[in-house]
Amino acid sequence: MVSSEAAPLAKTGGLADVVGALPAALRGCGDDVAVIIPRYGSIDLKGARRVYDRVPIHFGPARYDVSIYQAAEEFPLYLVDCPPLYDRKGFYGESGIDYPDNHIRFAVLARAALAAARFLFAPRIFHCHDWQAGLVPAYLRTTFATDPTFVDVKTLFTVHNLGYQGLFPKTALADIALDSGVYRPDGMEFFGRVSLIKGGIAFADALNTVSPAYAREIQTPEYGFGLDGALRARGDVLTGILNGVDYREWSPDVDPLIPANYSADDLSGKRVCKERLVGEFGLPREAMDRPLVGIVSRFTRQKGTDLIAAAAAGLVAEDLYIVALGTGDPEYEEFFRRMAAEYPGRIAALIGFDNGLAHRIEAGADMFLMPSRYEPCGLNQIYSLRYGTVPVVRSTGGLDDTIEEGTGFKFAEYSGEALLAAVRVAVRAYADQELWHAMMRRGMQKDFSWRSSACAYSALYRRLAGGA
Ligand code: ADP
Ligand code: GLC
Repeated sequence: MVSSEAAPLAKTGGLADVVGALPAALRGCGDDVAVIIPRYGSIDLKGARRVYDRVPIHFGPARYDVSIYQAAEEFPLYLVDCPPLYDRKGFYGESGIDYPDNHIRFAVLARAALAAARFLFAPRIFHCHDWQAGLVPAYLRTTFATDPTFVDVKTLFTVHNLGYQGLFPKTALADIALDSGVYRPDGMEFFGRVSLIKGGIAFADALNTVSPAYAREIQTPEYGFGLDGALRARGDVLTGILNGVDYREWSPDVDPLIPANYSADDLSGKRVCKERLVGEFGLPREAMDRPLVGIVSRFTRQKGTDLIAAAAAGLVAEDLYIVALGTGDPEYEEFFRRMAAEYPGRIAALIGFDNGLAHRIEAGADMFLMPSRYEPCGLNQIYSLRYGTVPVVRSTGGLDDTIEEGTGFKFAEYSGEALLAAVRVAVRAYADQELWHAMMRRGMQKDFSWRSSACAYSALYRRLAGGA
């Protein structure tokens, strides 16, 4: 697997959770998987061993020397070390601005993956995640098209999020020594620019996305981000495989990051978690008897932050409380700062990235709000089910596939009113605690572990490797 993130070493969102958990689950289906990611500055090499020393990667006159380390994980996790490219404050950029040489950074990742495949771990499939890995199929179809090492190697490209496409000026092709023949509409050209996600979409042997609903949606203009045509053209090899979750990390009966453990049979610990969370966010004690709504999110346009802002007054009027954790676009962070300032003691927000707090919110809240504009899969609503934290979601993509009547509340229209209407129904349900507890338990008993989804990937790998 070629990826830009893998939990726990490098994470900004769900991609990291998936790449961190799927390889171990695949082992249960009889597959051996290695993962390769960049060695960002924040990744400590202590405990890792150097397995490949200074491989030169040439892009025309430019040369990048990379070393490859293997981290002490339960599967081979390779870290591509190239300090001038990866030893920076961010993974993709700083202060909301992408690094201008991201095409080079991820081209080097792709080329390092090919080198690792030659010398360290000979795969039958390259499983490439998101635009950062889109150059692997592109190089295999061009520069390495006749390389005997790779003739029988197949590629699977997984779209975790169509909203991030890796767009660069046409001159980027020369910087990364990619055949200019790819610059065509059915290749990697996209409205006058080079699109790295199209490297995956156009050139991978098979494509998938992370829920069946999103696989359908991205083939429509409404959700296609301009790529629906390219995706429809490959509709015969495009499937949807729902993400699983890692219940070793995300389950209230074993979670070491929450104040008290609990299960569907004994929910008493959840009240302790709520009490602590209310205290941690400085909310009044009265919140203990009212619905506490949790939010953990990248604060971006995708996640429906604007709907929450639009509905804030109406939400507060329902006599509920909100705790939010997130980071992202300054504009949306500001929404939360403003809401917290306007409704002190009602809405509390922490702007930042904090895994422990994400767990404590999942455990301590009564409801989890996820009003996404679009959602390829979404993991937090699935975690919420397991924590007995009833999800209120917009019925799109993976949210629609994972939440059903009886385990959560859904609304369809992208508007503050629709969100508010769904929350009102949830608040009414909460008033009947017996019914509410039954709903919590139903969600807690749902099984979204990786087992079945990993085997769907495994079957796809086998079909690809078999050439069928
Ligand atoms: P996405 O990948 O689009 O951000 P997902 O729901 O698939 O959405 O996954 C988000 C993951 O990132 C979850 O594990 C969630 O807990 C985590 N996460 C998001 N924002 C934060 C944050 N501010 N602090 C800690 N964890 C976060
Ligand atoms: C993306 C999507 C999210 C999905 C995650 C993992 O970041 O936004 O919906 O769960 O990838 O596939």
